[in-house]
Amino acid sequence: MSLTSYIRTIPDYPQKGVQFRDITTLLHHPAGLKSAIDQLVEHYRDKKIDRIAVIESRGFLLGAPLAYLMGTGLVLIRKKGKLPAATIGEDYDMEYGTSTIEVHTDAISPGDQILLIDDLIATGGTAEAAIKLIRKCGGEVVECAFLVDLPELGGNERLQKIGCPAFALCAFEGE
Ligand code: PRP
Ligand code: MG
Repeated sequence: MSLTSYIRTIPDYPQKGVQFRDITTLLHHPAGLKSAIDQLVEHYRDKKIDRIAVIESRGFLLGAPLAYLMGTGLVLIRKKGKLPAATIGEDYDMEYGTSTIEVHTDAISPGDQILLIDDLIATGGTAEAAIKLIRKCGGEVVECAFLVDLPELGGNERLQKIGCPAFALCAFEGE
């Protein structure tokens, strides 16, 4: 069964004209969740990954089980004001406004090979900001992986422009 079939589409959420791809239905389904995590483990099995960086909040849900199964550390990239120690931040535009994400300054060591995980790439603004943060810390982003790509919104091309490969388990083309 294709992963897209586990994902529910909510029309006109959070605003009119947006087709919201709701991954809660995939997370709810044991076979959907297992298939997504297993496919990511398989895809990165032979890659050298020191740590998995996860983007709050839905990226946490996929990155944590993946880090556990791959035996890597986990780096939390959180929304502004949530991390307790010294941080660096990056502002970004997203599909429905602007925001800031932060990472602890000591979470990544220079030269660390980082796999960046989020649930979905739309415009790519969130992932681009996360890549910039990781690079500021001296980390190297091996690849960004997503459960869902929305190709019409151009996120993949945006990451290509900053030299970061992207991988998605499934995509929704248009309607
Ligand atoms: C959503 C989604 C991605 C991001 C994708 O997160 O989970 O992180 O938007 O959009 P982009 O490619 O246009 O940047 P959101 O900020 O809505 O919050 P959440 O993960 O905390 O639900
Ligand atoms: Mg998110």
